[in-house]
Amino acid sequence: MAIEAWFMEESDEDKRLPHHRNPKEFVSLDHLADLGVLYWHLNPKDYEKDEELQKIRETRGYNYMDMLDLCPEKVDNYEEKLKNFYTEHIHENEEIRYCLDGCGYFDVRDKDDRWIRIWIKEGDLIILPAGIYHRFTLDTSNYVKLMRLFMGEPVWTAYNRPQEDHPARKEYVNSFTDKVGVALEAH
Ligand code: LAC
Ligand code: NI
Repeated sequence: MAIEAWFMEESDEDKRLPHHRNPKEFVSLDHLADLGVLYWHLNPKDYEKDEELQKIRETRGYNYMDMLDLCPEKVDNYEEKLKNFYTEHIHENEEIRYCLDGCGYFDVRDKDDRWIRIWIKEGDLIILPAGIYHRFTLDTSNYVKLMRLFMGEPVWTAYNRPQEDHPARKEYVNSFTDKVGVALEAH
C-alpha cells in the first residue's frame, strides 16, 4: 500500500496526532512528486540484501548509510533531538529516510506554504529534496527506526526557517519557476 499524505489542520494540539482537516483532504503521490518528494515502498525485512534498495542507492549515489533508532534508550538528548526535528527547516542536500520499523510523520510545505503530513510506515522510503521546508515527528505509537542514506560524507545541518536567501532554498524555489517558464514557452 502506498503512503498516506494529507493537508494538515493548523492546531497547537499534540503534534503526534494526525491533524486531519475536516473533511479529510488527502494528497496524491503525484502531488508530492511535483514538490520533488519521491517515494518507494520496499521490503524492510530484507534490507541487507534487497536488490531494489541497492539499485536506488547505486542510481542515486547513496554510498553512506546509518540507522536512527528513535527511542530514549538509544538516542542521546532524545527530547532535544525530537524538538529540533519538529522545528521547520531545510538542508543543503536531500533528506533520505527509509522506515524499517514503527512510524512517524514527515511534514512538508507545498508551493502555497500549506503543510502536508506524510505518514511513514515500515517499508516506506522517501526523499525530500534539498531546500524544501519540512519537519519530523513521531506519531502516537512513539517509535520509529529509520535508515538514513546520503551521497558522500553526511551533513545533517538543519537551517531553520526563514532561509529565503539560502542557495539551496533559492534553487528549490527556482525549480518551480523554471518549470512554469518552460510550460508557458510551449504554448
Ligand atoms: C530527521 C530525522 C527524522 O533528520 O531523520 O529529521
Ligand atoms: Ni530535516
